[in-house]
Amino acid sequence: MQSKLAFIGFGNVARALAKLIERKSDGLKSKYGITYSVTGIATGRHGFAVNPNGLDIKEALALVEQGKSISHLSALPVENSLDVIRLSAADVVFENSPVNYETGQPAVDHVRAALNAGAHAITANKGTVVHAYRELTDLAQSKGRKFMFESTVLGGSPMFSTFREAMPLAELKSFKGIINATTNIILSRMEDGESFGDAVMYCQSIGIAETDPSGDVDGWDASIKVAALATVLMDTPTKPQDVDRKGIRDITPAMIMDAKREKKRWKLVASAERDRGRVLARVAPGLVDASSPLYGMMGSSSGLTFRTDVLPDYSITISEREGLKGGPEETAYGLFADFINAVSAT
Ligand SMILES: NC(=O)c1ccc[n+]([C@@H]2O[C@H](COP(=O)([O-])OP(=O)(O)OC[C@H]3O[C@@H](n4cnc5c(N)ncnc54)[C@H](OP(=O)(O)O)[C@@H]3O)[C@@H](O)[C@H]2O)c1
Repeated sequence: MQSKLAFIGFGNVARALAKLIERKSDGLKSKYGITYSVTGIATGRHGFAVNPNGLDIKEALALVEQGKSISHLSALPVENSLDVIRLSAADVVFENSPVNYETGQPAVDHVRAALNAGAHAITANKGTVVHAYRELTDLAQSKGRKFMFESTVLGGSPMFSTFREAMPLAELKSFKGIINATTNIILSRMEDGESFGDAVMYCQSIGIAETDPSGDVDGWDASIKVAALATVLMDTPTKPQDVDRKGIRDITPAMIMDAKREKKRWKLVASAERDRGRVLARVAPGLVDASSPLYGMMGSSSGLTFRTDVLPDYSITISEREGLKGGPEETAYGLFADFINAVSAT
């Protein structure tokens, strides 16, 4: 089957995805019978392009990577992302615009428009999940399409699909883990004697922390991911503001060295558990010892341990071992897996 693809947001993640789709095109065709053309691209500052007969994706990639506009590639006049969704006649819309923690916009509008236009909507944007999961999932179902978001938490690791496919009707009782790479790198480097400030600067130098690192350091990024997990896997609508949140600013080098002497480690622990009909979601520093799966997650490693009703005597851990810094390629793989699963299922 021939899929028409539109990219709403064509930054690091979307471009890594476009390259991955190109690289895997033979397998897509031979194993899944999927061929494709890219019919729409929307950016913030690099223009918009639509061609229902197919855009030259290599040229679009080169233009954006040189900081140039793609608008002259367009066969039709387009002025905004919603035009691109409508005029590209896409079967699959990849939404990868910047996250808006407070409202989820404009990504929620993009996903809604994609589903209303009859396309599958696939996103790495956490805002869509915490602000509109139920609405968008219901809309997708009513249209016979898919709303998928595997890469919103733990990049390319199969988190949501594990529960959807491999553990049907398992009730998630609780989860606990490390889901913010920046804070984990900072704490790991402090254990090797580096100061908090130098460790933050290191994270900025490798492009993993923003100029203002407070989103990571104060636990907001981890909170939106906890909220996404609780919303989807515990069926309990949860906003980042609902998460009991404390970041890592109060952890001193002395605390880290004391813990080290006791063979323990400070981690920014993200968790949620069911308690008398409610879900208690939390992000806070916690001491872990070697018996915890979190103890060995150093640097940019991350992972989550789950407890369910169907496997009550043991937990399941999904973890990603440290690469250099994680990043768009991992995230792109989650989107790619969603793409195949969405198209194959319909
Ligand atoms: N980077 C990661 O490893 C990672 C991991 C997990 C999830 N995510 C999520 O993935 C999404 C994309 O991340 P990224 O790293 O690719 O970000 P990015 O490099 O900043 O790219 C964002 C893209 O969105 C475009 N854009 C900005 N405003 C837009 C609008 N109103 N409508 C349409 N496009 C718009 C930007 O265009 P201009 O450049 O022209 O402004 C750019 O092409 C975010 O939601 C992020 O939270 C990223």
